[in-house]
Amino acid sequence: MVKSPGYRMVGGNGLFFPILGFASIVAFIYLSFGDLLSVRYKNEISLSFVERNGSNFIVDGELFYINGWNSYWFMDHAVHYDSRPRIRAMLQAAAKMGLTVCRTWAFNDGDYNALQISPGQFDERVFQSLDYVIAEAREVGIRLLLSLVNNLDAYGGKTQYVKWAWTEGVGLSSSNDSFFYDPSIRIYFKNYLKTILTRKNTITGLEYRDDPTIFGWELINEPRCITDPSGDTLQGWIEEMSTFIKAIDNKHLLTVGLEGFYGPKSPKRKTVNPEFWAADMGVDFIRNSAPSTIDFASVHIYPDQWFKKKSLRGKLKFVAEWMHSHIEDGEQVLKKPVMFTEFGLSDLNKGFDPSQRDEFYKIVFDVIYESAKKKGAGAGSFAWQFLVEGMEDFNDDFGIVPWKRASTYKIITGHTCRLAKIHGTVTPVTGNLKDICNGRW
Ligand SMILES: *[C@@H]1O[C@H](CO)[C@@H](O)[C@H](O)[C@H]1NC(C)=O
Ligand SMILES: *[C@@H]1O[C@H](CO)[C@@H](O)[C@H](O)[C@H]1NC(C)=O
Repeated sequence: MVKSPGYRMVGGNGLFFPILGFASIVAFIYLSFGDLLSVRYKNEISLSFVERNGSNFIVDGELFYINGWNSYWFMDHAVHYDSRPRIRAMLQAAAKMGLTVCRTWAFNDGDYNALQISPGQFDERVFQSLDYVIAEAREVGIRLLLSLVNNLDAYGGKTQYVKWAWTEGVGLSSSNDSFFYDPSIRIYFKNYLKTILTRKNTITGLEYRDDPTIFGWELINEPRCITDPSGDTLQGWIEEMSTFIKAIDNKHLLTVGLEGFYGPKSPKRKTVNPEFWAADMGVDFIRNSAPSTIDFASVHIYPDQWFKKKSLRGKLKFVAEWMHSHIEDGEQVLKKPVMFTEFGLSDLNKGFDPSQRDEFYKIVFDVIYESAKKKGAGAGSFAWQFLVEGMEDFNDDFGIVPWKRASTYKIITGHTCRLAKIHGTVTPVTGNLKDICNGRW
């Protein structure tokens, strides 16, 4: 949600913080991290592409329901030697929790540690960091949902593209929504798409478009185009960019990256949208997710950010209704899977207590579990966001180190176990699941 880059670096000791942190965790968790220090490349894991069958995801012929998470910071932190071990620590810890997909940024435009320094100019050092992130994920059998640009300003975003066009004297407008309609900016973005899709990973030797470690692509994080509330501008952009991606890469799944608001023509704007403003953001969940080039729908859940006045009870009640509504759309209208690609609760809320976050997580997981039992379209959830110890400076008010609080850890792993129980597991960490599920699996 609050995706600020957080430039304050942990002075020099980044390498040791995550490891020291693990020494202090409670014993039952500590045991499962015992082999953390002896990691090496195994190259044994072979992953296949995730596919879609109607409103279900399929891997190797089995239904796939996802217990996932967000760590947006992977590529950024892989650039520097001292923060690089955090990627491996997070991925290993996640694999031990049976998590299967991580959503992370595959963009950093014109900012600190930029991947794209200026239009069409890439920093090879940063690209190799992304290569590293993908290679590390493959090592533990975790797939990545890679987001391609930000609607918000963090890590450059659409505002950076508009600045570039302005600087080069080709920009139509200084409005950052011109990202969606300016022909020069559309060309910039297509150049970036082509570069990343055909990038050959310097570690694995695979082109990104041929790598099943990549679960899929997300066009843009949380698009809004408030200068055109009709939604036509954003819709045109989605159709053009998704068609362009599919022409280069038709092996991977593609989603938009929406928050999930219903647009001005949808009857659900009144009954399901959080508040009236949500219908005027230039987005529409149904229309934006409908093109045949979009494989699954994406939704975010921020009950505490979306309501000014509502009790915590009321907000939590909204969560299940919001999810059920979108899952129903996936089943009855879109015929596509629906993924809740961010959900978070801020610790800045008045009267915040971590138990409220536990309760919120449990509500989200329960809806996905019910969907999985019915082979429904509600295909997965991604907590915003997980970190490892020693990177508190990079946290926002939503992030957690999931193994620091035993009850949270148990809710997350419990969800892994019950999903695995109904559909088997498609991760290569089945042995580990037997350990963490202890008869619950
Ligand atoms: C795909 O969906 C159809 C219709 O729901 C179903 O009959 C078929 O078994 C599914 N295929 C797989 C591989 O699950
Ligand atoms: C858009 O542009 C305005 C003005 O230049 C800026 O303040 C704002 O942060 C930009 N980004 C977004 C996401 O609105």
